[in-house]
Amino acid sequence: MLFRSPNNYCFLCFGLVLYLVKVGLAGDPYVFYDWTVSYITASPLGVKQQVIGVEGLFPGPILNVTTNWNVVMNVKNNLDEPFLLTWNGIQHRKNSWQDGVTGTNCPIPAGWNWTYQFQVKDQIGSFFYFPSLGFQRASVIRNLEKDIESGTSLGTPDGVLFNGLGPYRFDENLVPDGIPYQIINVDPGKTYRIRVHNVGISTSLNFRIQNHNLVLVETEGSYTVQQNYSNMDIHVGQSYSFLVTMDQNASSDYYIVASPRFVKSSTWAKATGVAILHYSNSLGPASGPLPDSPNEYETSFSMNQARSIRLNVSAGAARPNPQGSFKYGEITVTDVYLILNRPAELIDGKWRTTLNGISYLSPTTPLKLAQQFNIPGVFKLDFPNRLDEQTCKI
Ligand SMILES: *[C@@H]1O[C@H](CO)[C@@H](O)[C@H](O)[C@H]1NC(C)=O
Ligand SMILES: *[C@@H]1O[C@H](CO)[C@@H](O)[C@H](O)[C@H]1NC(C)=O
Ligand SMILES: *[C@@H]1O[C@H](CO)[C@@H](O)[C@H](O)[C@H]1NC(C)=O
Ligand SMILES: *[C@@H]1O[C@H](CO)[C@@H](O)[C@H](O)[C@H]1NC(C)=O
Ligand SMILES: *[C@@H]1O[C@H](CO)[C@@H](O)[C@H](O)[C@H]1NC(C)=O
Repeated sequence: MLFRSPNNYCFLCFGLVLYLVKVGLAGDPYVFYDWTVSYITASPLGVKQQVIGVEGLFPGPILNVTTNWNVVMNVKNNLDEPFLLTWNGIQHRKNSWQDGVTGTNCPIPAGWNWTYQFQVKDQIGSFFYFPSLGFQRASVIRNLEKDIESGTSLGTPDGVLFNGLGPYRFDENLVPDGIPYQIINVDPGKTYRIRVHNVGISTSLNFRIQNHNLVLVETEGSYTVQQNYSNMDIHVGQSYSFLVTMDQNASSDYYIVASPRFVKSSTWAKATGVAILHYSNSLGPASGPLPDSPNEYETSFSMNQARSIRLNVSAGAARPNPQGSFKYGEITVTDVYLILNRPAELIDGKWRTTLNGISYLSPTTPLKLAQQFNIPGVFKLDFPNRLDEQTCKI
């Protein structure tokens, strides 16, 4: 599980992150945390706004743990609304009482606390945690849900942030003066591991560093075959690690860019996330146009790029674990589901997306509790195996 090559880390992501690094042997130690969640004020785009902070920080603190460690995390909700923390991508030895997904888990009521307990297993790389209720993840703009139900699109985001910070002023007409931006300080000749997460809710991003290659080494907790990319499409919820060698002459600083994909670039230009890569021997600030992104509507580029990623199976993989993934091949298949999703349609006057013609709303009684205590009327076990597209009947 050890990530071997780099001695230097630098952190870069679009929000909250959780790091899992280094190998653990026997012992399975416990680590205990107490985190308080509260509203704080931040001005990532130069205008003060209320955001959700963890331990007074936005983005929240890094949880740096090693595979096999047991994490005991007591979360106190000091908001005036319910709160639920989801541990994105942490797959192993986390039961469904702990995953923080609405519908299976109860939110933590305002003023209450709840202790998450899980063991991090068999994954490398970094993951992120995020508030999973409503649109808390996007911000505390509370009417987003109603807008979507009435068919209004989310529209252009105000900005893409790097580690909670707004864009470098790459264009005076687009970016106001005085916005603090992320600077990544590096030394020439060294190689850094850069971890990138798209923690947004709706927009795919193209990530690139001016004049630098991105050597992909990890995605979603697995080693990949090491390949060079000049830029990478990172869709919502995805996580990647790149090795980046500081092999340029530092005639200036370099742009680090995360630009929205599959949208009209002229309309969205002001939403572009821009940070700065600063060599210790840099001769001056970055200037001029940002490095090009792929063609704005070319989805085939993105599909082909995703298909080019291969797992590096000689570098280690998930080991057998008590949940029994090593027995998958022995399981007798009794049911096959063919799942079809369709664009949003009007159901009871509200726009809803569906799977096999069924849309889902979290019940007020979480599914998990209904199952545990045999509470009738919360859910039915009648999800259709397939949807007949011709007749829209099952
Ligand atoms: C995490 O902990 C390891 C070992 O204690 C340390 O080498 C590494 O720098 C830490 N990383 C972060 C992001 O704090
Ligand atoms: C709430 O926090 C208290 C004090 O830290 C702790 O003793 C208790 O176990 C926590 N309750 C839950 C449900 O996590
Ligand atoms: C697989 O991972 C190992 C360990 O990180 C690395 O040394 C090797 O070069 C990788 N193989 C490929 C084909 O990328
Ligand atoms: C990536 O590109 C650089 C520079 O072009 C080259 O030196 C390096 O060997 C390449 N790495 C891989 C894994 O292809
Ligand atoms: C540095 O590299 C850039 C582009 O690769 C080149 O245009 C520039 O002349 C170089 N500057 C120096 C000082 O070598």
